[in-house]
Amino acid sequence: VKDVGILAMDIYFPPTCVQQEALEAHDGASKGKYTIGLGQECMAFCTEVEDVISMSLTVVTSLLEKYQIDPKQIGRLEVGSETVIDKSKSIKTWIMQIFEESGNTDVEGVDSTNACYGGTAALFNCVNWVESSSWDGRYGLVVCTDSAVYAEGPARPTGGAAAIAMLIGPNAPISFESKFRGTHMTHVYDFYKPNLASEYPVYSFCGSSLRNIQQSKLEIAGLFDRKIRGYKQVIQVLAPDAMLVLPQGLVGDAYGLVVDGKLSQTCYLMALDSCYKRFCSKFEKFEGKQFSISDADYFVFHSPYNKLVQKSFARLYFNDYLRNSSVVEKDAREKLEQFSNLTGDESYQSRELEKVSQQVSKPLYDVKVQPSTLLPKQIGNMYTASIYAAFASVIHNKYSTLMGQRIVMFSYGSGLSSTMFSFKLQDGQHPFNISNIASVLNVSEKLEKRHVISPENFVETLKLMEHRYGAKGFETSKDTSLLSPGTFYLVNVDSMYRRYYAKK
Ligand code: ACO
Repeated sequence: VKDVGILAMDIYFPPTCVQQEALEAHDGASKGKYTIGLGQECMAFCTEVEDVISMSLTVVTSLLEKYQIDPKQIGRLEVGSETVIDKSKSIKTWIMQIFEESGNTDVEGVDSTNACYGGTAALFNCVNWVESSSWDGRYGLVVCTDSAVYAEGPARPTGGAAAIAMLIGPNAPISFESKFRGTHMTHVYDFYKPNLASEYPVYSFCGSSLRNIQQSKLEIAGLFDRKIRGYKQVIQVLAPDAMLVLPQGLVGDAYGLVVDGKLSQTCYLMALDSCYKRFCSKFEKFEGKQFSISDADYFVFHSPYNKLVQKSFARLYFNDYLRNSSVVEKDAREKLEQFSNLTGDESYQSRELEKVSQQVSKPLYDVKVQPSTLLPKQIGNMYTASIYAAFASVIHNKYSTLMGQRIVMFSYGSGLSSTMFSFKLQDGQHPFNISNIASVLNVSEKLEKRHVISPENFVETLKLMEHRYGAKGFETSKDTSLLSPGTFYLVNVDSMYRRYYAKK
């Protein structure tokens, strides 16, 4: 088999969204904080009739229909998600309903979980399967599905929700350049969800996050009120203790306890550097020449919010400068010179470096990164689906010019796991070609058909979902008026916690 990769894709995101500008005003944040500061435009969210399972059912059904794939042709189904519906039963098993109907229960694979990285793990599993001796000639199918919701506070605008399905097989128009993978995985407490009673990640009371935490909770926060950028040690040591000192009731409520946004940003950038170095050295080993950002046409990053993507590309540019790459021109070289002697740690903490490198890399960012930012800016962080939604944005924006091009992908999941890998794009045979994928994705129409919900309504919905999380014995409103025909929705959860879905 050759050119194993993505044959077909589809994306589903809830039709309900909140504008970041309105949310900013509602939250009392300074004007421009969410839109310019985080770089986000809009945020999709699930109402009480949708969740990660319904979104998966919707996107898988849609992919099979639109590319006319018989469910019997799927031999492996892998799901990446960090949204916990059940601690034992995989999301994959719910999706099996679609395959059972056509008599196909011979489908390998279960769920992969590690923050936003699970989708990439699922994708690698499918690709490896097709390349292995246990491959039976059928397709692999990868589903990335998540609903990212945060407690009130500075992380709330970095939520989002979507599900993506990708069909895997040989002779793909989007094939893996598997030799060049660079991975970096370590143990770190940057973002985690130890509180099983809440859907929200644990919240950090550190640094600027403090400002938005309710007054009554500030006494606890005092412990952590240290304005430093080198958060790593402090949080790793203090966060577990923090849970012990909190008053009764707080652990189970919406505030959760630990995400350190700042630490997660630094971890992300450190992982990026490390993966890039490994990716470059593999490229050099196999191609016999230095890799630089000029060797890829697009860079696609996991996107918790757009500002981090801007910083990430600037970081790659700075790496190329340190590696003496000719892609960094003379005037940029002169501006970056003052930072050439910073230690690794100092470079993550230097605001000045962040600013200057973003400024000098901006022209290349506009060409190589900007086309990937549409869906992440419009939908928000989709966790496992985020990087693939960014990739789908490139296909949507550039489908007619992608043949022969290389796209470098950076996948990051807190905790942490990360990999940089690359795709080569080529002409495929209908229905598995880039322009057909772009038309199935149908991004513009899906975005246009959304309904903008007020921040008040959004907050109400999240409150209701807090109560529903992990609950049993309830019926939803079954109000599907905002859903498109063909969308699956949650009908009820019975007294035994069993979930029932229907299709509009
Ligand atoms: N106008 C323009 N820019 C503004 C404004 C304003 N009025 N106010 C603030 N900003 C800028 C800030 O300068 C900053 O930008 P910079 O970093 O380029 O300087 C940016 O807006 C964010 O402001 P902060 O004060 O740093 O943000 P805060 O601490 O309130 O929260 C954070 C941001 C940490 C990202 C928070 O949303 C969070 O914790 N999110 C969840 C964690 C996360 O997404 N981590 C990413 C990797 S891990 C993952 O994928 C989940």
